[in-house]
Amino acid sequence: MSFDQFSNRPLGSTAVRPSWEQLPHELRDFVTVHLGSAIIRADVQSGGFTPGVAARLILTNGRVFIKAIPNDHVLAAKYRTEAETAGHLPGNTPSPRLRWHGTAAGWVILIFDDIDGRHPDLTPGSPDIFTVASALSDMAALLTPNPLPHLPLASISRARLLHGWGDLATSPPHDLGGWEQRHLQALTDLETLWVRHADGTTLVHGDIRPDNLLITSDATAAVVDWAQPCQGAAWQDIADLIPHMIMAGHSPQTAEKALIGLSVWDLAEPDVITSYAAAFAGYWTRMSRQSAPPGVPHLRSYQRRAAAAAITWTMYRTGW
Ligand SMILES: Nc1ncnc2c1ncn2[C@@H]1O[C@H](COP(=O)(O)OP(=O)(O)OP(=O)(O)O)[C@@H](O)[C@H]1O
Ligand SMILES: [Mg+2]
Repeated sequence: MSFDQFSNRPLGSTAVRPSWEQLPHELRDFVTVHLGSAIIRADVQSGGFTPGVAARLILTNGRVFIKAIPNDHVLAAKYRTEAETAGHLPGNTPSPRLRWHGTAAGWVILIFDDIDGRHPDLTPGSPDIFTVASALSDMAALLTPNPLPHLPLASISRARLLHGWGDLATSPPHDLGGWEQRHLQALTDLETLWVRHADGTTLVHGDIRPDNLLITSDATAAVVDWAQPCQGAAWQDIADLIPHMIMAGHSPQTAEKALIGLSVWDLAEPDVITSYAAAFAGYWTRMSRQSAPPGVPHLRSYQRRAAAAAITWTMYRTGW
């Protein structure tokens, strides 16, 4: 499987979101009254995949970032989880402050401090890699012990998602790649070991990827989109950078090398990381074969590219 086999849409232009004007006027009126300011401009953000509203609002008296989704949307629970989490992060977490959240006009609404930033460039040689990796490492230290003890355990919530080879092995798709077919049983065995090492005492973000990170002009990194948090071992948020670095043009060697020196990465057990790479490869391979969710046209092609990257990582680590 090669990366250029699939559409390579930048992560900043993957979501199909409504414009501000397309939103129900009850919602817009509520936001305007709540903010106490006219909305001069709404810059819709197209990073991410969910079809909810995500916009930077320019007001007469400042700026805010707003996310909203209809109350009865299948993803509304994720927005509520994000509000619960973002609202209870320690003040020095490198994440925008949640100013307000609630329900109005039938929508779940979150209003954050606006961050004037861009998604990190994870291509080889980019200084953003060090910025992001050190910010995640510092964040892991800050969020240990986990300040939100009611969160699910990584061994349950993340493990429920991050697997695929076992499912694919029950009825192997005819177009599965040759390497994947040859190693399907071994990959099925390999993809579960990490789960026994997933738990820990850190608040894990659980969805680290470039479109959930912002770099500001003073070269600091902010982490957004706390919709899939859990309590777990800190190595997960750091290791999650690797497939994204490979997607951005790294070899597995150079991607891993970029993390050396961060204790959270240096202390991770090699067998666990190999299993984790296989689990991501299986997850993305499995998910990329499902039909596209309504209003999310670019998710499956992204997952095919992500699967190719995670397979490359798994090949490197296993030597298979
Ligand atoms: N506080 C903020 N200030 C400025 N821009 C932000 C802020 N939070 C998020 N963004 C931008 O908006 C985009 C979408 O936000 P976010 O990732 O929170 O939601 P989402 O993409 O809808 O969720 P998902 O990633 O699950 O699809 C991000 O990729 C980022 O570019
Ligand atoms: Mg996002």
